[in-house]
Amino acid sequence: MFKLTFKFPLSKADEATEKLYIHDIYNVFYESPITITKTDYGYGYYENEDEFVDFNIVVESDDIEEARNQKNLIMNTLKVNEIKIESINNVELNETLEPIDLNNGWVLCSPEYEVEGKNKINFIPQGAFGTGLHETTQDCLRYILDEDFKNKSVLDIGTGSGILSIATAIKKAETVVAVDIRDVNEEIQLNASLNELDNIDVYVGNILENEITFKDKFDYIIINIGGEETQMFMDFINNHIKKGGTLLVSGLVEWTFDLVADKIKDYGYTLISSCQTNEWCTALLTKI
Ligand SMILES: C[S@@+](CC[C@H](N)C(=O)[O-])C[C@H]1O[C@@H](n2cnc3c(N)ncnc32)[C@H](O)[C@@H]1O
Repeated sequence: MFKLTFKFPLSKADEATEKLYIHDIYNVFYESPITITKTDYGYGYYENEDEFVDFNIVVESDDIEEARNQKNLIMNTLKVNEIKIESINNVELNETLEPIDLNNGWVLCSPEYEVEGKNKINFIPQGAFGTGLHETTQDCLRYILDEDFKNKSVLDIGTGSGILSIATAIKKAETVVAVDIRDVNEEIQLNASLNELDNIDVYVGNILENEITFKDKFDYIIINIGGEETQMFMDFINNHIKKGGTLLVSGLVEWTFDLVADKIKDYGYTLISSCQTNEWCTALLTKI
């Protein structure tokens, strides 16, 4: 395989991607440079639209002529003067994950690592949030891995990489429903299969816009998106949690934790426990 790389203005990246699609060039990826901002409920960000990004296109062929043809096509289509071609192999497309010790007897890492005397969750990051590096993901994982999910149904709102869903399935959850606004299905199914799991159903869409609806009520609901979003999701959560069910909430920042926790309690929840790593707070509540 080959990777073609060139500089392109971020402000025109969407338009360029569409032009490439018309020519059946689909394997396009680039990283948006962002600036992080602090908000009432955590952090926000904006994309630095006026910057140039490295635009990458993967040519799934071992024929250098095919890569050169695509290079010429892209140069003409996007009016780019210079494109670098480099040879890559399949493995380079998958990142590896160095072991992350959760300090509770569990380690998260890609399958090639041997972990002695501890339980292991196999995981290969594919781009979605939830690589296990963030404090909120780690704190949620510690709560989940402490629990027995036998006979329980789980709803994971904002599943990202699906790592939290995978952890509940490893802890024997009967059914797991993972939802995200982004299409993370392949990423989740890949990582589920690395852990020999086949009971995670992935749904793509925005729940807040009623793009997905569920008839069922769940024993355990997880949401790690943010304080403001948690409040916006509370009607939905409350309609889909069983009486006596558990709600695991993360992505809350210390400066609005009490405010969000009080709003959840107003819906009839009791705080069972909470923890904090750096400024990030996680809470476990039960629906009375
Ligand atoms: C902070 S990540 C959490 C990922 C993972 N659950 C974890 O704990 O590491 C939040 C995820 O929520 C998703 N998300 C944000 N708003 C959403 C919405 N309205 N409906 C569904 N998913 C949403 C984002 O795409 C992102 O993957």
